[in-house]
Amino acid sequence: MRKMPKPSALVLSALFTSLGFGATAEQITNADNSSYQRFSKQYQSWLQTSESSDIEDALEEDPNLVILWAGYGFAKDYNKARGHHYAITDIRNTLRTGAPMTKDEGPMPMACWSCKSPDVPRYIETNGEAEYFKGMWAKGGDEITNSIGCGTCHDNNLRLRISTPFAQRAMDTIGWQWDSADKSQKQTMVCGQCHVEYYFEPGNKFVKFPWDLGTNTDDIERYYDNINFADWTHALSKAPMLKAQHPGFETTMTSTHGRNNVSCTDCHMPRVTNEEGRKYTDHNVGNPFDRFEFTCGRCHTQSQDELEKVVHDYKQMINDAKLKAEKQLVHAHFEAKAAWDAGASEAEMKPVLTAIRHAQWRWDMSIASHGIHAHNPTEALRLLATSLDRSADARTELARVLAKHGITETVKIPDISTEAKAQAALGMDMDKMRADKARFLQEIVPQWDKAYQEKYGGSK
Ligand code: HEC
Ligand code: HEC
Ligand code: HEC
Ligand code: HEC
Repeated sequence: MRKMPKPSALVLSALFTSLGFGATAEQITNADNSSYQRFSKQYQSWLQTSESSDIEDALEEDPNLVILWAGYGFAKDYNKARGHHYAITDIRNTLRTGAPMTKDEGPMPMACWSCKSPDVPRYIETNGEAEYFKGMWAKGGDEITNSIGCGTCHDNNLRLRISTPFAQRAMDTIGWQWDSADKSQKQTMVCGQCHVEYYFEPGNKFVKFPWDLGTNTDDIERYYDNINFADWTHALSKAPMLKAQHPGFETTMTSTHGRNNVSCTDCHMPRVTNEEGRKYTDHNVGNPFDRFEFTCGRCHTQSQDELEKVVHDYKQMINDAKLKAEKQLVHAHFEAKAAWDAGASEAEMKPVLTAIRHAQWRWDMSIASHGIHAHNPTEALRLLATSLDRSADARTELARVLAKHGITETVKIPDISTEAKAQAALGMDMDKMRADKARFLQEIVPQWDKAYQEKYGGSK
């Protein structure tokens, strides 16, 4: 059901136009990636992001995650990132976006499209930011179909840019003004449009990067605590939880490379030379080790094997510490549930829940961006140490609360040795979710593509 625009909406849209969101026709982002084929080197290398097609099921690899995200979408399904080519496919496919059969059905809001497509700036420039963020995710199905592409990082004249007002506002907050930024900062900012921590503001559901107090994990924790924000309430412990998204920008900034002004693109989108000796920017955003001589090799004298070993060893160390932090968190969630079941009071549980919230936030920030073993391994290890510290606070307090309510034996953890077992332990009906999703993909998604095609033409 769509409401007729009220006068107040018209006034608002006029206001947005005066603020610059009502762009002229020429300024509206050209979201059709296929119309850029004349830039053949950039276009062809951009297309190659489709070669990174493997789906890695993170929940199967580490079923602890199901428990840590109990009650939240990520417990349903969570795959590791793959090539930019798949951003639209994957957001349609994930169980997290559910199976909305109408435009008004949930569970997710419009904001979920924000890091997937050049149709997002196109839509915002055409309709204003408030209209973009209004409503449920399914509202945007027939408006947002092109995957991350030229218009995401470039204006129509292929100058580098930040393409959304919410990312621009966030960069301004931390003093990374586009106009005064150097080349390297700009190269990092185009990635920082998406590879960041963000949340949906309660109320209007705008995307906001929580950087008002700073960009490190402690600053953001304080920011969220001050505004009493929670992404969800944990299904077992009832703790008010935070979900870290993909804070690659924040964690890389403070690394040795970040402090030396090495940009994201120095490693992920290097300047390369093709067979004809022509130089261009390789648009196949992927693993830097695949093009070692143009990435690490440009600045370092060590061999590829040596540097890969350094990164690999850090990955191992972080993974070991990560599993230890998860083990403590899993116990804390189940123990908190046992304490509630035994009749613990809100007042008794408050310090426990705050400690669980912080412990899991720190664990999540240390790993959610995936590349941290390459980006900032010491920060990952620091965060995991502080996560363990806060879990210890939670469990020490829990032991006291449990004892007070007559529970002195160890709280048992069910069999969570596989993804399916962990989901079953939480009583999740995965078969139904998968069947609903299959129907949605078969019936609704083709209608979205057809409607887009009729409105805008172009091909994907
Ligand atoms: C994820 C961000 C991103 C996307 C998506 C992207 N570009 Fe780029 N593009 C860059 C960066 C970064 C540079 C390097 C510019 C610089 O460092 O000043 C660049 C440079 C260019 C250049 C200048 C010449 C060169 O090779 O350096 C052209 C032309 C270009 N891109 C075309 C495209 C086209 C066409 C598409 C879509 C098929 C596209 N870009 C998609 C980030 C992107
Ligand atoms: C519009 C938002 C957006 C921008 C801008 C963006 N990314 Fe991404 N990136 C994503 C999403 C979403 C995924 C996951 C896609 C999937 O799995 O379907 C991703 C995936 C990746 C991956 C994993 C690729 C693989 O093959 O496994 C890397 C690496 C990456 N991005 C780096 C970058 C870098 C570097 C930049 C800047 C040059 C950048 N991204 C700009 C949204 C973005
Ligand atoms: C010094 C080089 C370097 C810089 C700078 C760098 N990265 Fe990376 N990044 C890597 C390496 C190397 C890996 C892959 C490590 C591995 O093989 O597991 C990686 C991994 C990633 C991944 C995970 C890919 C996956 O498939 O899971 C993402 C996403 C990513 N980087 C984004 C970024 C963003 C965004 C920035 C800038 C804020 C950035 N990187 C800066 C070297 C770099
Ligand atoms: C644009 C130049 C540049 C690129 C590209 C680059 N690095 Fe670096 N790297 C540096 C600089 C500068 C330092 C700091 C050197 C110092 O302090 O002596 C550094 C430091 C390091 C260190 C030591 C880190 C620490 O915390 O002390 C490692 C390991 C490293 N780089 C690995 C890599 C790998 C792996 C890649 C490719 C994925 C890479 N670098 C790409 C410039 C670069």
